[in-house]
Amino acid sequence: MKPDELMQLAKEAMGHAYAPYSGFQVGAALLCADGTVYQGCNIENAAYSPTNCGERTAFFKAVYDGHRDFTAIAICGGMKGVITGLCTPCGVCRQVMREFCGSDFTIYMTDGSGAIQTRTLAELLPMSFSGEEHLL
Ligand code: THU
Repeated sequence: MKPDELMQLAKEAMGHAYAPYSGFQVGAALLCADGTVYQGCNIENAAYSPTNCGERTAFFKAVYDGHRDFTAIAICGGMKGVITGLCTPCGVCRQVMREFCGSDFTIYMTDGSGAIQTRTLAELLPMSFSGEEHLL
């Protein structure tokens, strides 16, 4: 699947956001190695900290369904669903990506201009903690 096709699915997912507190809607589309795509949106909470980001929603849906092998994720976000700048993944989401993905996992982001920025997980999360250090 091409990056712009994956981003189109992220934009569609953004419309599912539950973001009554911030108004910032996020959509994500996660591409599995077998070609399956999982979409996610942010789901906020009145107590704020239970909020789940769009990226993690997509990951958790996929993992629940038995996927462990991922290729790329497209992410977009904006106030009331209007994209005016890049939505880069938060630190918690980067660490969740690291749980399941290697350094070459690809992250696509858009600022709404039509252009797509591409980064690897290694670029966005250098010197990451993978858990291999404490595997029994
Ligand atoms: N958010 C995401 O869904 N993904 C990110 O990577 C950044 C932040 C959400 C969390 C919250 O619902 C809203 O954006 C504002 O922070």
